[in-house]
Amino acid sequence: MDKKIKTAVIFGTRPEAIKMAPLVLELKRCSEFEPVVIVTAQHRQMLDQVLDLFNITPDFDLNLMKPNQNLWGLTSDILLETKKIFEEIKPDIVLMHGDTTTAFASALSAFYARVPVGHVEAGLRTFNKDYPFPEEINRVLADAVSDLHFAPTEGSVQNLLNSGIKEGVSNGGPDSIYEDGRRIYKTGNTVIDALLYTVEKNVDLSYLRLSSDLKTVLLTSHRRENFGRPLENICDAILDIVRENEDIEVVYPVHLNPNVRNTVFKKLDKVDRIKLIEPLDYAPFCALMKHAHIILTDSGGVQEEAPSLGVPVLVLRDETERPEAVESGCVKLVGTDREKIKSTVNKLLSDEEFYNSMKMAVNPYGDGLASKRIANIIKTKFNK
Ligand code: UD1
Ligand code: UDP
Repeated sequence: MDKKIKTAVIFGTRPEAIKMAPLVLELKRCSEFEPVVIVTAQHRQMLDQVLDLFNITPDFDLNLMKPNQNLWGLTSDILLETKKIFEEIKPDIVLMHGDTTTAFASALSAFYARVPVGHVEAGLRTFNKDYPFPEEINRVLADAVSDLHFAPTEGSVQNLLNSGIKEGVSNGGPDSIYEDGRRIYKTGNTVIDALLYTVEKNVDLSYLRLSSDLKTVLLTSHRRENFGRPLENICDAILDIVRENEDIEVVYPVHLNPNVRNTVFKKLDKVDRIKLIEPLDYAPFCALMKHAHIILTDSGGVQEEAPSLGVPVLVLRDETERPEAVESGCVKLVGTDREKIKSTVNKLLSDEEFYNSMKMAVNPYGDGLASKRIANIIKTKFNK
């Protein structure tokens, strides 16, 4: 029998797991691949929630998460632990995702091991090294050491070309995977594969005790650059909004990062019509996004998912690496200024025309077939 393509798929946080799960399932479906799933467990509980939903059992679990971990420790742990695994399994290619510490450190580790690297969700940029921190630099560095770039949109393809990654030129890697000269592929984002897989599931949200008389405003916030004052501003804006609008309730699944929880619980715990809840499994979270009247978020993934569900999204950041949904009108950047957040939410709640202008279902990030495309591209690279 033909030798299979030994494909190490590595991820560690909730959003990477959600976006890599459909690709793992696709690789498992194709007889040409021998997938090896490695989780760093940069996240623990929030990663396991996703592994359970997609029924994925990792081949290697590095179990690296520490309470309130720091970037130095996590980065060096990932480098050292993945070195051992790459030496043991000798993969033909390593696939990593996005812009986390797991993504950057595992790409660098594979490069050091002279294994070709495929970057899923390549080419996103704000062109501001501090926003988001440290993700902008993680993805720039991951792209620099990658051999294949699976870019979700035309904009991300252009970012890669503008950053000096040249089509038709081998970057001197150890393998012949770019014999045909092509390195950048527009594939769509696998997040839409995951969303379509999940959103149709029948999920009972009754345990959340949402009031049928109130509009739901869904909030998520966890970015490092928002820790401290910006996150306090967001909480103050939420308090104002709830006080001024008796017909809404805010639901906030609070991220497990203690830097988020300390501020959020201090400011918003036990306030009437504000529900602070634990991070939701992906299926109920998708159902809650669909149910929401407005979404406020600084999440990358939520910015990509919510537009397909036709829910207006206000992004609690000053810039985004995901401009496509902003351009189409259903996502607006409001930053972390208390007044700006408050006035935009109030306008959405009171001005029907404004609300309807943002409530449109658009899908600039994918069509649900990104994982299939990525698998097919890798097959052709290995002449399968
Ligand atoms: C990480 C990523 C960020 C991504 C986010 C998605 C980096 C530097 N940051 O940020 O890009 O947007 O994940 O959510 O890669 N914790 C738990 N259980 C969990 C997860 C986290 O207890 O399941 C707590 C731990 O105390 C952990 C801390 O949160 O040390 C921080 O986790 P970390 O992955 O370093 O940062 P995030 O803020 O989650
Ligand atoms: N998400 C989830 N449960 C929650 C909150 C978010 O499953 O309680 C999902 C969300 O749908 C999206 C992903 O987690 O797919 C986003 O993760 P996060 O916001 O932590 O990270 P980012 O995308 O900003 O890196």
